[in-house]
Amino acid sequence: MCGISGVVGLRNVTDMLFEGILSLEYRGYDSCGVALMKRNKLTIKKNVGGVEEFFRKENILSHKSKIGLAHTRWATHGKVTRDNTHPFISADKKFAVVHNGIISNHRALRDQLEREGFKFESETDSEVIPHLLEKFYRQEKDVEEALVKTLNLLEGTFALAFITEYQPGSIFCAKRESPLMLGIGDEFKFIGSDFNAFVEYTRNAVIIDDGEYAIISRDAYIVKNYFTRMEVEKPITKIDWDSETSKKGGYPHYMLKEIYEQPQTISNALELLDGPLDELAELISASNRVYLVGVGSTFYVAKFGTYAFSTYAGEFFPAVSSDEFTALASLDQNSLALAISQSGETFDTLTALKFAKSQKSKTAAIVNVMGSSIARLVDQFVMQGSGPEISVISTKAALTQMTLMLLLALKLGLKKERISKAKYKEHINSLREAPEIIHSVLNERSGFIHRVASRYAKSKHWLYLGRGVYFPIALESALKMKEVAYVHAEGMPGGFLKHGTLALIDDDIFSIVFIPPKADKALYESTIHCVEEIRARSGFVLGIHFDERGKNRNLFSEELILPPVPPILAPIIQLVIGQLFAYFTATTLKRTVDRPRFLAKSVTVG
Ligand code: G6P
Repeated sequence: MCGISGVVGLRNVTDMLFEGILSLEYRGYDSCGVALMKRNKLTIKKNVGGVEEFFRKENILSHKSKIGLAHTRWATHGKVTRDNTHPFISADKKFAVVHNGIISNHRALRDQLEREGFKFESETDSEVIPHLLEKFYRQEKDVEEALVKTLNLLEGTFALAFITEYQPGSIFCAKRESPLMLGIGDEFKFIGSDFNAFVEYTRNAVIIDDGEYAIISRDAYIVKNYFTRMEVEKPITKIDWDSETSKKGGYPHYMLKEIYEQPQTISNALELLDGPLDELAELISASNRVYLVGVGSTFYVAKFGTYAFSTYAGEFFPAVSSDEFTALASLDQNSLALAISQSGETFDTLTALKFAKSQKSKTAAIVNVMGSSIARLVDQFVMQGSGPEISVISTKAALTQMTLMLLLALKLGLKKERISKAKYKEHINSLREAPEIIHSVLNERSGFIHRVASRYAKSKHWLYLGRGVYFPIALESALKMKEVAYVHAEGMPGGFLKHGTLALIDDDIFSIVFIPPKADKALYESTIHCVEEIRARSGFVLGIHFDERGKNRNLFSEELILPPVPPILAPIIQLVIGQLFAYFTATTLKRTVDRPRFLAKSVTVG
């Protein structure tokens, strides 16, 4: 994700630009840049670092300009360098462009432009845009015509905006799949990736839809469709400061916003590696028996933990659902109950921990809410730092907790010499890639998942299958489907099929199979075997896999192909797909996404 903000008005706008882009920093913070217009000449400033640091170091507020654009970047194509920072300028230095999204055909466009003599300064996909604008402006001698020609060539996703010396009083912008809105003030007009970019200055917003572009100047704005070229009548959306909408930051639901926050929450979890996780690994290592305790999503996180500790630390730590804990646990002063809870308030988990304490057992917790009852009760806790999770459907909290399970298992494995230092480092480095990979999967695959989910939204029964560590992923993904879409979804280990479930296979049963990367040979093959078992009975299978396109022709009824990822990350990436599949099924079925019927976020009663 990246953030875009822009202002045009009666007086200097650099202070508003600063406020706007600062409020979008949650969307990315690798590097920052601005484009200003002084006496009809473009000035570009950009550098690596966060928004505040950039504005301070470059002394941006001392510049005066009545029009400007700002961008805060989360790197996808190209490293975090000044050259790869937005805005990008055309070769003739007349167009300055900011972009959020991914131009999927950028390679072909770049090759063509390079053959035509355009020189590129960055490794980014975005830089094709200013060069295309220049090229078409030379032909058309009209900025709007150049924009439309450019938009019709771009594939992929974008919210883009530019200012140009050829029409110095206007901001041009366009959208396909990445969010973009206008703020309509009396003396100023704004653009932003979400309302926060301008809500301080105006509560009148115009939401730009896919396939539209807009031209704004200090006292006017126009929105058009870039296929039909027709003007589009746009309603003004009144932003109610206290309404949920403004806090959702332009996303239609908190659930989607929170899914998109996952690159950030995983980065936050990685920050805990040295310090909090060391102390917890120490406590685990000093215990004779360890139980992983949670309920709902956090029970599946605990189950995921069982696989992680077994794989990377050679230890078997059973996962116990909090509500069954008193019936199952055998505790003494050398045992440890390690609870996982987003809210830190869940009655069943609190009860389990109180029981553990009454048996003199040690207690610890991973929680997301500071000062919560569980944080206060246990001997030791780790704050996962995922920020408020508002949707009842847990996404970012659970996925981050799974990442913490992996980090803890690796720590323990190293401590107990079950994995070498070199392996430990290799896995940690792979986990460090998670934010960027999730970010690009979200950007590049959401559209496709949306289409598949809407195609099958009427299916009444889903089997979610996975083997090994993909079993808890299947369970958690199925839970998302039940909670948010009210669709029957059953998670189970792939091996269960032939022990009963195969008897169900018919036209009304749809299966999703989470397939590991080929590198995990035995697990891969046994999972493919499950697919074959269903297909042999003419059952429907949606395969989520990392193989090359076309490799598994005829094996699946529908497939969702993911980019190659380090094996340790594969289950986490698969869960992101499970979340999105449930979300888009729910939106197709017009469910009340963030507030599912009969459920509550924090169940504080028994
Ligand atoms: C409730 C929610 C679930 C959640 C579970 C545990 O059942 O509906 O989504 O996973 O509580 O919540 P906690 O706050 O302890 O993680």
